[in-house]
Amino acid sequence: MSAGRSGRPTVVFTRRLPSPAEEQAARDFDARLNADDHTFTPVEIADALRTADALVPTVTDKVTAQLLGTEPLKVRIIANYGVGFNNIDTGAAKARGVVVTNTPDVLTEDTADDAILLMLMVARRGGEGEREVRAKTWTGWRPTHMLGTRVSGKTLGLIGLGRIGRAVAHRARHGFDMRVIFHDPYPPPPAVVAELGAEPRASVDDVLREADFVSLHSPATPETHHLIDARRLGLMKRGAFLINNARGDIVDEAALVAALKQGTIAGAGLDVFEREPTVSPELLTMNNVVLLPHIGSATHESRVAMGLRALDNLKTFFAGAPPRDRVA
Ligand code: DGY
Repeated sequence: MSAGRSGRPTVVFTRRLPSPAEEQAARDFDARLNADDHTFTPVEIADALRTADALVPTVTDKVTAQLLGTEPLKVRIIANYGVGFNNIDTGAAKARGVVVTNTPDVLTEDTADDAILLMLMVARRGGEGEREVRAKTWTGWRPTHMLGTRVSGKTLGLIGLGRIGRAVAHRARHGFDMRVIFHDPYPPPPAVVAELGAEPRASVDDVLREADFVSLHSPATPETHHLIDARRLGLMKRGAFLINNARGDIVDEAALVAALKQGTIAGAGLDVFEREPTVSPELLTMNNVVLLPHIGSATHESRVAMGLRALDNLKTFFAGAPPRDRVA
């Protein structure tokens, strides 16, 4: 086992983690923590790859093929802090013999809650209403004030029925009596789908044509890049809403802005964006969109558990066993 001065593996953490995770990291490893929580530069990532035994990056750290080509490469495992790992070039990692893990399961429920939050906020004009109260422009109750769209009993279309998609389906069916339809090229076993009461559709397009709310729960891959583009937005019902708390580049943001301007769809609830933390300026001016700052997993519970899960993967790996969340 490769080790730092303390005799334990050296692990670089690119961001601050909630205290219980950092305390555990300091107990288990020669942990190089990011005390001022600055965003790592590519030079710092390259330095970590050259000098540490393990790297714990997050969604904002691009671990590219170029960085993984660094010589000499010391890192043997990249334990991503996050379930999505599109920030890492897993092909390049594999080619260099670097193991990659993620943190599934522990954030599923909170991320599903966030999708429901977006759906309710955009349909019931939650953000707009709050802005009105804060601006002191609310003039009081009246029958025609701020009418939104009913969520209960409507059709929810899920693109992706993985762990998070399934948790959203469960909430929608049991909490809001919604009909749930979905498309997933790799669907769960039929028994799981049947238990959820979700109805499969043969294509993304079929889901878009039929749903009142479309919620995206696919990973960011070359296949899902701009999956929701101008053509597909054009298939959605005029009164439908798009929800995205998966990854920003699944949606062509410029096409979404155009669709919202033209009234092609009724609105959007977005927790993720194509060029985070930059948001298309037009979206900032639109009342029929809800914009959240990538907080799907942002609860104390999930963020501590994500840290402990990443550490668990590292401990297993350095003990010589296969880490449970290996993705490459
Ligand atoms: C996740 O876990 O994928 C979150 O989006 C943060 O990366």
